[in-house]
Amino acid sequence: MTHWWQSGIVYQIYPRSFQDSNGDGIGDLPGIRQRLDYLHWLGVNAIWISPVYPSPMADFGYDVSDYRAIHPLFGSLADMDSLIAAAHQRQIKVILDFVPNHTSDQHPWFLASRSARDNPRRDWYIWRDAAPDGGPPNNWLSRFDGKAGWTWDAPTGQYYLHTFLKEQPDLNWRNPELRQAMLDVMRFWFDRGVDGFRVDVAYRVLKDAQFRNNPPNPNWQPGMDPFHRLIDKYNRNIPEIHQFNRWLRQVADAYPGRVLIGEINLPLPQLVQHYGQGDEFHLPFNFSLIHTAWTATAVRALADQYEGLLAASAAWPNWVLGNHDQHRVATRLGPAQARTAMLLLLTLRGTPTLYYGDELGMADVPIPPDQVQDPWELYVPGQGLGRDPERTPMQWDGSANAGFCPAGVTPWLPLANNYETVNVARQQNEPASMLALSQALIHLRQRTPALNQGSYQSLDTPAGLLAYLRRHDEESYLVVLNFTADVCHWQLPAGVTPQAILLSTHMDQPTALAGSSLHLRPNEGLVLRI
Ligand code: NOJ
Ligand code: CA
Repeated sequence: MTHWWQSGIVYQIYPRSFQDSNGDGIGDLPGIRQRLDYLHWLGVNAIWISPVYPSPMADFGYDVSDYRAIHPLFGSLADMDSLIAAAHQRQIKVILDFVPNHTSDQHPWFLASRSARDNPRRDWYIWRDAAPDGGPPNNWLSRFDGKAGWTWDAPTGQYYLHTFLKEQPDLNWRNPELRQAMLDVMRFWFDRGVDGFRVDVAYRVLKDAQFRNNPPNPNWQPGMDPFHRLIDKYNRNIPEIHQFNRWLRQVADAYPGRVLIGEINLPLPQLVQHYGQGDEFHLPFNFSLIHTAWTATAVRALADQYEGLLAASAAWPNWVLGNHDQHRVATRLGPAQARTAMLLLLTLRGTPTLYYGDELGMADVPIPPDQVQDPWELYVPGQGLGRDPERTPMQWDGSANAGFCPAGVTPWLPLANNYETVNVARQQNEPASMLALSQALIHLRQRTPALNQGSYQSLDTPAGLLAYLRRHDEESYLVVLNFTADVCHWQLPAGVTPQAILLSTHMDQPTALAGSSLHLRPNEGLVLRI
């Protein structure tokens, strides 16, 4: 049986930036609801919404101060209930973000924990005595400034651990009461009809029980991300982490049809271990396309390696080209290759996750220094680490503020200055637009079992091309991608006999086929039926 999260397509919404419904310049839940018909038209099966819980917004919602409520900026619990209902009416599933590694320092649990050493919540966070010299207990670093990952609490005379900002104290999942409290949070949302969770930094949640120092990174040089001075051996992906995955999975398995997607940013051999024996994550996010050189050879090697690692197991692959922490794919690869990348994402075997706006070819927006929001950019300025550029408002139409918020309102991050040409309304009317391509690919994938659940087999090609077969029952499809800006010819191998070209990334009627020879234009991708 194929589950919805296998054959389906996930669409990530960064809620602050999708649609503002009340004119405060910040996107919200009623705004998402207003745009469900667009998502239905686009053809996606699920939305993953980055955190919308009450939060002081030190890390834009990834610092949660109440796991069971909605921040008033985004709406109310009633708004979430009606969003879930309205999405379900359109056969769209709703995936929320679950942030288990840390809370906000304003969460009542942490306020209690730091109030006294003998407070019953003390052990819900990770407190340690100072080192003999009074310094932090070990050398672990904090993600956004590369400084000590420990903050001294003078009133109680101990340090607390924070893998991210000091406003994001780490929870202690080795404490059974904390664990129950957090697993109950999952149940709370499952009971409200949520279809799954994306689990934030899942692979960092458990820490070495002995708190050993991390080793230095021999490859680090000044000018690089200061966090990478050390290899985070003892506070990331430690052997016990699989137990954490299983705790979550046991809760999810009590609810039929739910999905757990783990944010696990690891090389493929380590990544695939997070499927467990079918008792850990359904989908450990596969970020490798973001980190791999954009060449046909490298991408083929990657897909083949992944397929090889998953062979002989029931584990289901998945692919990601962008998210709210990564520079936009259209900026990384340029607009022409962003089109072939979209074709790749939507024709590889495995669940694709699309980042909002990538379907239009939205690019990174340069943020003037006085408008920076992301704490990472504020702490480590000018190194390109800040994430505001990929979090700018969705470009809906050519009106003032692109239809994201009313004219005259200042959106929380500036709009792209190309929004009058790159926007949904305009691209919906342009037959060869990036949006037209994305929608055509989505619909082709949805109606084609070979593409949404068939097998994968790569083929040898001339340099610069990537080709693979997708097959299911009697159906066979050939996908060919030209990773170069040159024309490429390919004498097809014996046995590969195209019947029809179903789609070109150029969105025209290509004349690519001459007998058994295939002719690809610069940056062109093709889907053929064979
Ligand atoms: C990963 C999230 O994707 C990122 O946006 C956030 O800042 C960190 N986890 C901390 O929660
Ligand atoms: Ca709003």
